[in-house]
Amino acid sequence: MRVLVVGSGGREHALAWKISRSPRVEEVLAAPGSDGMADVARRCDVAADDFEGLAALCRVEGVDLVVIGPEAPLANGLADHLRAAGFAVFGPSAAAARLEASKRFAKEFMQRHDIPTADFASFDDLEAARAHVRGLPGGCVVKADGLAAGKGVAVCPTPAEAERALEEIMGDRRFGTAGDRVVVEELMVGEEASYYAITDGEHVVTLAAAQDHKRALDGDRGENTGGMGAYVPAPVVSEAVEKRILERVVHPAIRGMAKEGTPYQGVLYVGLMVDETGEPRVVEFNVRFGDPETQPLLVQMQGDLVPLLDGSARGGLDRVAPPAIDGAAVCVVLTSQGYPREFEKGRAIRGLDEAAGDPEVVVVHAGTRRAEGGGFVTAGGRVLGVTARGESIGEARDRAYAAADRIHFEGAQFRTDIAARALS
Ligand code: AMP
Ligand code: GLY
Repeated sequence: MRVLVVGSGGREHALAWKISRSPRVEEVLAAPGSDGMADVARRCDVAADDFEGLAALCRVEGVDLVVIGPEAPLANGLADHLRAAGFAVFGPSAAAARLEASKRFAKEFMQRHDIPTADFASFDDLEAARAHVRGLPGGCVVKADGLAAGKGVAVCPTPAEAERALEEIMGDRRFGTAGDRVVVEELMVGEEASYYAITDGEHVVTLAAAQDHKRALDGDRGENTGGMGAYVPAPVVSEAVEKRILERVVHPAIRGMAKEGTPYQGVLYVGLMVDETGEPRVVEFNVRFGDPETQPLLVQMQGDLVPLLDGSARGGLDRVAPPAIDGAAVCVVLTSQGYPREFEKGRAIRGLDEAAGDPEVVVVHAGTRRAEGGGFVTAGGRVLGVTARGESIGEARDRAYAAADRIHFEGAQFRTDIAARALS
């Protein structure tokens, strides 16, 4: 098989790495890919938003399966476009991608299908939204309705903070048109986890539960980022909790999408809040793999990912054996100084080979480029993801940090407490 991965980040590098290890796969292509992916995929110079260009690439290269990494091309209909051109695609249609692309759609969908989530109200008028938050008894969460790269969410313990957030999103348009409409939610308490399931629209294969670290600094302080690290499995998702997640969230969501005429194909990533009694409620749906969660998820997974991706794309996932899942994996993200705000680029990176010397370690590139004289330099906020497998979370954590310590670039930053919650 020839498999095309669409995207260029750490998640796509991890997907290309795992796909390249499949005995069924002859070649992995990546569009646009990244310099750092060259060890596992051939780069093709076509952008993720060039739908015609990608269809042409699939024809010319005889691609058998397309795996779409990021949410934006999914929300804009890339899967529909390539399916209409006759290709097998892993990833949902634009209609199904509304589960992530529109928070209001997701909330109303959950209401229709009785899926547990926070109470909410949505507004396209600033004054009406203000009046609403002033009348709330406690805290709330204010969210821009559209895609805002994970940053359009303000957790507001008081009405005054909520009013300020509304002003920023709807008044100042901090996130552009994503702030035409806002959703105001009840503030949920508990422990967060992400749950991953692959589906062909009808059958479901469960992967694992992960936990990520969104804040920039140790102890969950500092600003929200795209993710500073992640680990699997998440101990908060016990067998009993997983059973509830499947019965109350995953199966009703897949059935609901099919019933509404927009069957869901791809990976469903459910962001959950699990309260102290073990009741899961949905924080959000995402229609793609998490970044960096994909890295520990795939490093922990034994066996072949490709039959799952292919079964999701073509149907018949019920005939695919679920992946053997064994041990644990921890990913530490190395960022440029200043991330998630302004940061410098072009710093020489040393120690990549030394870090990858441990066979249980995988280093993926999130924001690097090849340097003129060889080697790599930094080229993004999140630079590298260092992931290690181990029999336990503790073992995986120690290995990941030992590998991360071998990598050096000026201004390199990482959190030192990834997975600490699972070990305390
Ligand atoms: P979202 O983009 O919807 O995932 O929100 C980003 C983050 O905000 C989540 O990962 C949670 O930490 C937090 N959050 C969102 N909605 C709620 C809620 N209703 N209650 C508590 N925390 C929330
Ligand atoms: N790590 C969070 C995300 O991928 O949305």
